[in-house]
Amino acid sequence: MPVGLAELAREAERRAEPTAAAYVFGGAGTEDTMRANEEAFRRWRIVPRMLRDVSSRDLSTTVLGTEMPAPVALAPVGSQTIIHPDGELAVARAAAAVGLPMALSTVSSTPLEEVAAAGDGPKWLQLYWPTNRELGASLLSRAEQAGYQAVLLTVDTFLPGWKPRDLQMAYQPYLHGIGIANYTSDPVFRGLLTQPPEEDMQAVVGQFLVQFSNPGLSWAELEFVRSHTALPIALKGILHPDDARMAREHGIDAVLVSNHGGRQVDGAIASLDALPPIVDAVGDDIEVLLDSGIRSGADIVKALALGADAVLVGRPYIWGLAVGGEAGALAVLRALLGEFELTLGLTGHTSPAQLGPGLLVREG
Ligand code: FNR
Repeated sequence: MPVGLAELAREAERRAEPTAAAYVFGGAGTEDTMRANEEAFRRWRIVPRMLRDVSSRDLSTTVLGTEMPAPVALAPVGSQTIIHPDGELAVARAAAAVGLPMALSTVSSTPLEEVAAAGDGPKWLQLYWPTNRELGASLLSRAEQAGYQAVLLTVDTFLPGWKPRDLQMAYQPYLHGIGIANYTSDPVFRGLLTQPPEEDMQAVVGQFLVQFSNPGLSWAELEFVRSHTALPIALKGILHPDDARMAREHGIDAVLVSNHGGRQVDGAIASLDALPPIVDAVGDDIEVLLDSGIRSGADIVKALALGADAVLVGRPYIWGLAVGGEAGALAVLRALLGEFELTLGLTGHTSPAQLGPGLLVREG
């Protein structure tokens, strides 16, 4: 396993099927926002403090009601069996080995109940709110039954992004029946079909596409979601402070500042640049999480210093999965945690709560 993430990414791209590589490595449009996510971290520089006795360090925190050994979680990534045959089950075991929450995608290759049983670590369910709200309610109740501790409601994918690499390959996992397991195993979804899913795959994929992207999603629908689960809810994909304020007003517990890893709106603001105004707007009232562009322990320190309560990591653990299955994903998580703990200590801190904007300067 390469320790350096750049080399790991290269190795993952070399090993993956070209269609899977396009799916994982691709972003929207010119991939400008995908690159901007990482560049935004480079523009902040850490100014470490010395002689502060950091011999006893504690990374633990509680976010979305979940006790976590560090303010880091695994971002939801769909259809993981196209990367490695063990897919989400391997990732669940790797996450459990370090105790970090795994956010499972709605479009996972394996039903949410099986993933819940695969590792005894904390689990969050990412939800693409379907066109049929009874199906949404069913997914929520299944998640509660299976022991999921929070819901990440993704609000930036009500239409699919324009992703040239996928378009060039004419590839979507769903069209091959991968990533629809939570739908085909759902009684409400099955009730929307005229025949059992096993008998007419075309009809299943057609119905999935109707349910998956929901361009009619609006704030009004949130009240239905809120009233159908007792679990904490984070809105995933918030970039504007006014949307964060709206989330707070709708009784939402957290916002996840994210541009979907640069996969939705090309030209969108880098996630890290969107963070400070959102923290200013709602950070005292609700939790603020961040993903998109986290590639190192130093990046985690920077996001927390700018006010995030926790971060999620997407592609890096998928590269580990591609190269080494469960052990590969675990190696990536351990490396990120190790570097985070060292950077926290080397900058003069003993807990994530001590990190603040005074630690950073803007380059130039
Ligand atoms: C994603 N992401 C995502 N998000 C979501 O809410 N549901 C999903 O099913 C998926 N699927 C998915 C697949 C792949 C291949 C990628 C790369 C990403 C977005 C993901 O949760 C997260 O927002 C970004 O990946 C974070 O950016 P980084 O860490 O990849 O830069």
